[in-house]
Amino acid sequence: MPQVTFQPYNLRLEVPRGTSLLAAADEVAEMVADDFFIGEMCEGRHECGNCVVRVIEGADALSPMTESERALLEQLKAGPDRRTACTARVYGDVVVGIVSPARHGQREEGRMQAHP
Ligand code: FES
Repeated sequence: MPQVTFQPYNLRLEVPRGTSLLAAADEVAEMVADDFFIGEMCEGRHECGNCVVRVIEGADALSPMTESERALLEQLKAGPDRRTACTARVYGDVVVGIVSPARHGQREEGRMQAHP
């Protein structure tokens, strides 16, 4: 199975092919503590940008970028090494950097605001 490593935490796990980076991050969060999360608020609709990560290694091992993901990243003026974790799916070994970690409580609050 492909291996995903999250930096700067150096946390690594194996995931089934096709797992999203966001799902992998949530699994790691369960393994360590609740203060390691990739932010998420729009549930993959490419509206929030909170889940953006930096791809350090293995960009080719991720699913291709969708048009709406590309549009969001352009809108955010994100660099070419950025992907949205809600959309990027893992098909090989990757190393990603957490750009803006959010505490579990913050993410829950965000979700509640987005979906009252
Ligand atoms: S969860 Fe909002 S863009 Fe990924």
